[in-house]
Amino acid sequence: MLQEAESPYATLQVQAQPSGFGAEIVGLDLTRPLSRQALAEVKAAWAKHAVVAFPDQPLSLDQLEAFTQAIGAFGEDPFIRPMPGHPNVLELRREPDERATNFGAGWHSDWSFQPSPPAATLLHSEVVPPVGGDTLFCDCTRAYDALSDSMKAMLAPLRAVHSATRAYGTEGVFAKETAKRTLQIVVSPEADKSLSHPLVRTHPVTGRKALFISPVYTVGVEGMTREEGAAILGYLFQHMTQDAFIYRHRWRPRMLLMWDNRCTMHFAEGGYDGHLRVMHRTTVAGDVPR
Ligand code: SIN
Repeated sequence: MLQEAESPYATLQVQAQPSGFGAEIVGLDLTRPLSRQALAEVKAAWAKHAVVAFPDQPLSLDQLEAFTQAIGAFGEDPFIRPMPGHPNVLELRREPDERATNFGAGWHSDWSFQPSPPAATLLHSEVVPPVGGDTLFCDCTRAYDALSDSMKAMLAPLRAVHSATRAYGTEGVFAKETAKRTLQIVVSPEADKSLSHPLVRTHPVTGRKALFISPVYTVGVEGMTREEGAAILGYLFQHMTQDAFIYRHRWRPRMLLMWDNRCTMHFAEGGYDGHLRVMHRTTVAGDVPR
């Protein structure tokens, strides 16, 4: 259920989820450039709610690109072929006869294995199936806040190891896949590389701390054995994915969703075999996590 906002905004209305995590923004036409004030208010609402949906936005690819660039410079999207003529747009298309697991069906924060992972991902719904296809989001800030002081102190100096290997690596899920997939995935030895980020990162805009790990891309904890890392990460993953920290996004056609990869992870649910689902996706570049 959405709640009416007290509205500190002059150019838009925000209807937030009761938890404050996730909100709908109405009153804007994103097919046109936003005024400076409207853009500042969108950014403020996004910082506050982390996942913001703009219903009824019939965006062309050019308009999606223009709004993305108003938020920030494009990020780099590896391992997936972009749309012809639109090098910064991915088409997440799943045909009715596809039976391969839907793309994004594991908890992750986009491209967290990059030195500077994307700050934002934008996803615009073109065709929404009549059943299934929701996207779930985890509030990694409230999940961090809910930990004990002792756990927070233990996690503070740790660095988590991130890699794309399980998904896009030479021995990863997509390398072994045989079922039809319309999305063109490019498996690469590049995906087998890894790097580390702080396990708890501080959001550059809000100053709030959040767990920055995910089951898909976090493969260990620096300086720990595989078993030690798996035990800590396993506990944190089950803690983070409790219902209390989850927002379920239900799509409608022509909806634009923008989420903050610095303080959320997400999971694309299936359940729509036999139906077409088409989304267009862009990312906005981010900072080195600190
Ligand atoms: C993703 O970016 O992980 C896909 C999300 C979705 O298709 O709902």
